[in-house]
Amino acid sequence: MSKTIKRIGVFTSGGDAPGMNAAIRAVVRTASFHDLHVYGIKCGYQGMIEGDVIPLNRSSVGQIFQRGGTMLKTARSEEFKTKDGRKKAYETLIAHDIDACIAIGGNGTFTGAKVFQEEYDIPFIGLPGTIDNDIYGTDFTIGFDTAVNTAVDALDKIRDTADSHDRLFFVEVMGRHSGYIALYTGLCAGAGSIFLPEEDNDIDHLIDQLKKSTRRKKLFNLIVVAEGNQNGGAHEIARKVNEKFSGYETKVTVIGHQQRGGSPSAADRLLASRLGYESVNALLDGKKGLALGIINDKVAYTTFEDAITKDKKPGKDMIRMAEILAL
Ligand code: F6P
Repeated sequence: MSKTIKRIGVFTSGGDAPGMNAAIRAVVRTASFHDLHVYGIKCGYQGMIEGDVIPLNRSSVGQIFQRGGTMLKTARSEEFKTKDGRKKAYETLIAHDIDACIAIGGNGTFTGAKVFQEEYDIPFIGLPGTIDNDIYGTDFTIGFDTAVNTAVDALDKIRDTADSHDRLFFVEVMGRHSGYIALYTGLCAGAGSIFLPEEDNDIDHLIDQLKKSTRRKKLFNLIVVAEGNQNGGAHEIARKVNEKFSGYETKVTVIGHQQRGGSPSAADRLLASRLGYESVNALLDGKKGLALGIINDKVAYTTFEDAITKDKKPGKDMIRMAEILAL
């Protein structure tokens, strides 16, 4: 029989994402409704190793719902990848009588939780928090919607100046390994072409499109590039295009870490609240080793193993639709 849970640790790890605070708030308030104690572990696994733990209650998570970033701070810990680091982390949890943990983060966070659970008998539940939307087992991750809205807003503004000067802009968005931000941003901003990390985009094909657009006098002014595209980032792709085609004056904009910040969208607040609430319920139901998500508006449970090993990629149908709508 699983041990009764009285004290929960919660932490954020990896890249921050808008909505992480909303998830922390939901965890703390749901736990407190069930008379559980909650401890916030600062700076992810590194804080767990270093014993950086603070008690949290209903009022300590007031006024954080609408804020970007994470009140618990975040980090990527190399030390936690070692057995010795994980032993220190375990000692911290034991020292605070923490019976279970809720980990908010991406694939690296879930990998850490999986390895730790195999070594120590402390249940972990994971919540998908990353702007990249690259976690298997959920339609969307916490932070993705806000990041896309930030990027679309930037693209709309760039389009104004691009239109006015008849210039062609290469706009780089985040996503080292994942094209979700690029695809959704490109679609929602009406980009002429979208370069994803998952696709081997052909520069010559793009140049053909550009030539056709000049013949049709159709202004082609926005190209969205995911930072991890196989041809390189926006600067590199602009350089390759300029080498072969001079029909447009080109500019490059890298949106960068703006996409990670800002007040979470309503969709991210809702997603984070649902997942935070369900994560406490899952622990109380005796569940462990699972990443939570929402699929087709229902809570979904995926093993850490599946969440980190199974691929989640933008659908071919949506990529095709984006191409057709841009013609
Ligand atoms: O995983 C989220 C993400 O923002 C990626 O899109 C990006 O490639 C990476 O983090 C950037 O990481 P850092 O903030 O450490 O430079």
